Order: sequence, then structure tokens, then C-alpha cells
Amino acid sequence: MKQIMFSPSLMCADPLNLGYQLQILNKNKFDLFHIDIMDMNFIPNIALGFSVVKALNKFSTHKDIHLMVQNVPLTLKNIAVRTGDFISFHVETSTSIEDNIDSIRKLGARPGLVINPETAIEKIYPFLSFIDIIHIMTVNPGFSGQSFIHTSYDRVKQIKSIILSQNKRILLGVDGGIGYEQIGKLAQYGVDVFVLGTTCLFKSNFEKQVKKLLAFRKIQLKHYHHKG
Ligand code: DX5
Ligand code: ZN
Repeated sequence: MKQIMFSPSLMCADPLNLGYQLQILNKNKFDLFHIDIMDMNFIPNIALGFSVVKALNKFSTHKDIHLMVQNVPLTLKNIAVRTGDFISFHVETSTSIEDNIDSIRKLGARPGLVINPETAIEKIYPFLSFIDIIHIMTVNPGFSGQSFIHTSYDRVKQIKSIILSQNKRILLGVDGGIGYEQIGKLAQYGVDVFVLGTTCLFKSNFEKQVKKLLAFRKIQLKHYHHKG
């Protein structure tokens, strides 16, 4: 079944109106909350902190946590997750991928891998049996407001065909510079989860953007429904 899940990137929300914008997202039943965690080391930026992650536990919406940190094991020790949340970390990490996946499972969360635009897709292949989600970075990680990298289309097709050929039940997500054109095209290539930031959601007149996105998705899904 075709799905178009929206995962708003909360680092892009208005920091002075985060609570209000979260209420709107929650009321409109957005599928996930995307939470970028950075350490000024793996990525020269800081985004959201552990207190925001903890506070989000009051919402029923599952978290789609994106770790851009050197020390994944230590970060996992400090993060307040709920059963069913996704925690993804970078395949470029210098810590043990197998151990991190194991630790995330032990937390009751669903492990995922994130891959940067320059990293060969094949790097993910050995882990397909152990993860529940893959996020393809469609910008260089760490900063919002960047433009979509167009080679991502082929990378999405490549990973999707492997997921299907190996009959894996893995959600495929994209993260960075995602606008209407990308959603329309990538949904056809089998992307399930769209991380939405400043490109099409967190910009002027937030509530209008929310309505526009939900209406767009309705049309897209009707289109697939007819195609069967
Ligand atoms: C980038 C972040 C994203 C995203 C933000 O590392 O993971 O949250 O780029 O969305 P845009 O690119 O639309 O501002
Ligand atoms: Zn992210």
C-alpha cells in the first residue's frame, strides 16, 4: 500500500513558538516528529536537546530521531524514547553499527540508518535485515535551508529496488530540501517518509503550509489509488 508519511523536522520550527506549532502538527495527525540531535563534532552544529526529546513524550506521535553525533552509544544512554520510536544514526559513524542497532532495540525503539549524499548506497546493504528505517540524506547533513541534491533520485531508486528484491519491511525516508516536486516524484519511487523542514513547511504562514501539504498529499494518494 502506497504511503506518504510526513515527518516535520522540529529543528526548523520557530523556536519561540515550538509548543504552538507542535499543537498544530499534532491536531493534524502528522505521522512522525523528526528530531535532529547534533554534537558540534560529527556535525559542526547544535540542533535540539534531550529536554525537547523528553517533552515530546507527551504527544502520542512517534519520534523519528536522527542522530548526527560521534558518540552514538553515549547519546543512546541519555535519550528518553518510547516504545515504537525510530532512532536512526549515520552509517558513517566510527562506533559499532551492529552494537548501536542492538542497543536501540534494547531501548524498545526501532533502529534505522542514515546515509550521506557522498556515501555509496552499498554501505547499508549488510544491515538490511536488522533495521526498520533508512533515511537517505538529500542534502549534506546538519543545516536546514539547503537545496535538494538531484543525484538523490537515482540513489532512492537503487535502495528501493534492493529493499523490494530482498523483501524487507523497511521504511524508506528522505531528509533535506524536500518540497512538493520531490514529494511527488519520490513517492512514485517508493519513498515512505518525508522529512519536512523549511522548504515546504516551516516558513511564513505555517498553518497555511500545513493545509497545503495535507491537501497535496490527499491528491497524491487519490492518484495512486486510481493507478492501483
Ligand atoms: C538536515 C536536517 C533536516 C532538513 C531540514 O540535516 O536533518 O531537518 O534538512 O529541512 P529543509 O532542508 O527543508 O530545511
Ligand atoms: Zn534530519
